[in-house]
Amino acid sequence: MSVKLEISFSKSARLDGVTAILLKASGDGAAAGIADVDPSGVYERAAKVRKFTGKSLAKLDVVAPHGSSVDRMVVLGLGDAAKMSDHDWLRAGGTAVSTLSGVESAVVYLDAAGVDVSGKQAADFALGMLLRAYKFDSFKTSKKKDEDEDDSKVKTLKVTLVTAAASDAKKAFVDAEGVAGGVLLARDLVNLPPNVLGPEEFAARAKAMEKLGVEIEILGEKEMKKLGMGALLGVAQGSSRPPRLVVMQWKGGKAKDKPIAFVGKGVVFDSGGISIKPAGGMEDMKGDMGGAAAVTGLMHALASRKAKANVVGIIGLVENMPDGNAQRPGDIVTSMSGQTIEIVNTDAEGRLVLGDALWYCNERFEPKFMINLATLTGAVLVALGSHHAGLFSNDDALSEQLLAAGLQTHERLWRLPLGKEYDKMIDSRFADMKNSGGRHAGSITAAQFLQRFVKETPWAHLDVAGTAMGSPADEISQSWASGYGVRLLDQLVRANYES
Ligand code: BES
Ligand code: MN
Ligand code: ZN
Repeated sequence: MSVKLEISFSKSARLDGVTAILLKASGDGAAAGIADVDPSGVYERAAKVRKFTGKSLAKLDVVAPHGSSVDRMVVLGLGDAAKMSDHDWLRAGGTAVSTLSGVESAVVYLDAAGVDVSGKQAADFALGMLLRAYKFDSFKTSKKKDEDEDDSKVKTLKVTLVTAAASDAKKAFVDAEGVAGGVLLARDLVNLPPNVLGPEEFAARAKAMEKLGVEIEILGEKEMKKLGMGALLGVAQGSSRPPRLVVMQWKGGKAKDKPIAFVGKGVVFDSGGISIKPAGGMEDMKGDMGGAAAVTGLMHALASRKAKANVVGIIGLVENMPDGNAQRPGDIVTSMSGQTIEIVNTDAEGRLVLGDALWYCNERFEPKFMINLATLTGAVLVALGSHHAGLFSNDDALSEQLLAAGLQTHERLWRLPLGKEYDKMIDSRFADMKNSGGRHAGSITAAQFLQRFVKETPWAHLDVAGTAMGSPADEISQSWASGYGVRLLDQLVRANYES
């Protein structure tokens, strides 16, 4: 059972019957709040026995400390607290929440002895808690025996974060909660099974963001046909489920300001089509809408925190299936741009969806920039694994902003090259281009394909095939779907594009 986390900030808290978590910097100083929690000096002995010194993310756990009103005391090490990055604060919050399985009420002493925690750091700690507490288990009806028995009974976990910076923290947390909501929405969308989340169902979930003030338009097959989106429609034609193009607008900036735009690949399931994929691991292709999920989560985050920017989000939602009406290798389709594409591999479908979505975005909105996110190529996994997404861009300034946001949020990017020699690799004998340049430089030729649909607009493509899903568990995520991209792009907007 997923627990609902209720977080509040305060300068003090009631301690009877709670689990108390105390943060402690490494070194000799005591943890702040220790005198309240541990009147009879249990800590010193326990620390000695466990050789606990407050190393980063080390834990010392004492149940029912003698002479104390708390049920349990957990001291959590921070290492060199003065040197902690934003991401370290998230990790600390995530680790704190990992000690609270089966607990209903907890108090965290945030002010590590010797360091003043800022409101932002306290809010980051809380954000880490929210991200770690996420569990996708709504499809499990029976609990496995190996799971913690207590877990099933607890529905809500109330946590009071005690800090001198409580009032600043509360303000910063309003934003953090919006961002967490966006990340968790993206994770849900990616984790959901493909029978439950088709293009229409995905679009309906995007539409639900109207209540946050996001304007939503949903284009169906007819509208897309009229626009000439032959590339996107070609992918959709092998599935019995019709495609959707969702246009989301958040108008938080000045009316006359051009928008910034985010475009996502939303292949709700990628079987490969007629160029069908091998069976092993094909179930992972339910996550082939990770780019669209990140764009949707980002819009949720920006609207929730009322970002002062005009932002467009566009997602192309299709299913890539091999029925009797499916497109074939050898087919030539005409994209909205007028450019023709020879389909040489129906499994290179993401670029077809994005080509039309990017062109449409550029024509209609003339945005300041376009950033697209896509689980585009297996090759980016070979190159970068799951710790960096691939970054491709025609604009150095935009790239620098993205790389900086990546370091800040720890949703990291690595820039890879574009160039005319690579572009040439997708020239076709029969049409303006073909949809695959073969195995060599697979991620780059995919990016070159996209670039043919962006003209001179500053543009970046993030290949998130390795980072959006199948991510290794860490302090802030135990989920298959990471929600990668939401925090990254929220930070990009926050740092550079809010008036
Ligand atoms: N959705 C896949 C890419 C992918 C692979 C995402 C593994 C996540 C994990 C994409 O549509 C695809 O099939 N790409 C092909 C391109 C090839 C046919 C040119 C690939 O990467 O093999
Ligand atoms: Mn594919
Ligand atoms: Zn795909």
